[in-house]
Amino acid sequence: MRQHAIRNREKILEECGSRLVEDAASHKGSWSRLFGNDNPIKLEVGSGKGQFISNICQRDKDINFLACEGGYNVFPRILQKAQMFELSNLAVIPQYIADPCDLFEDGELSGIYLNFSDPWKKQTAHRRLTHRSKLEGYRRICRPGSALEFKTDNDELFEFSLEEMAAIGLKPETVVYDLYSSELAEDNIPTEYEEKFTKNGLKIKYLRLIFT
Ligand SMILES: C[S@@+](CC[C@H](N)C(=O)[O-])C[C@H]1O[C@@H](n2cnc3c(N)ncnc32)[C@H](O)[C@@H]1O
Repeated sequence: MRQHAIRNREKILEECGSRLVEDAASHKGSWSRLFGNDNPIKLEVGSGKGQFISNICQRDKDINFLACEGGYNVFPRILQKAQMFELSNLAVIPQYIADPCDLFEDGELSGIYLNFSDPWKKQTAHRRLTHRSKLEGYRRICRPGSALEFKTDNDELFEFSLEEMAAIGLKPETVVYDLYSSELAEDNIPTEYEEKFTKNGLKIKYLRLIFT
């Protein structure tokens, strides 16, 4: 996501920072305590400005959500939304995740969303959020029955992700090459990027994988 400097960044952090988790690794194994309840916890990695996560938080109030976004000038926008919509079921992790197992204990999460993750160049494929090393991590930190949902406009990234899953024996239960022509469109919550890409006529690819 292109990062424009935001002039009032410090003010936003001051006014909306109560949902910010700067020491994420210290919550490993005790995220429920942060939310103060035992509701399931779902993670979005690469939340951008938080359109998707703030909408799903309002829809699924019995679920706690973690928005992870490393962009210095991007994550404050998620905090603003958390404040504006009074989202007590949302917390924001302001960092780039390298290894998801650094932040979560085995089986601690009930779902993961990867929406329009950056399609890194070939030589940095290992940094993609759907690289097999990350998938292995997601498999560990998600309890059985949890879903990993992935959306992208990028054909190459989608095929890469399917190949990475196959390489470690993961088989998505749903694979759709044009989300908006499918029956899934009705319940779909669009992201900022998704809205732009869809307006430009790009087809959105989607997959859902259930961890066993
Ligand atoms: C192309 S943008 C998509 C933003 C949003 N999900 C959307 O669909 O509108 C990808 C975002 O993922 C973030 N990102 C990429 N890799 C990440 C990582 N390993 N951990 C956290 N954020 C990451 C980037 O900073 C960027 O804001």
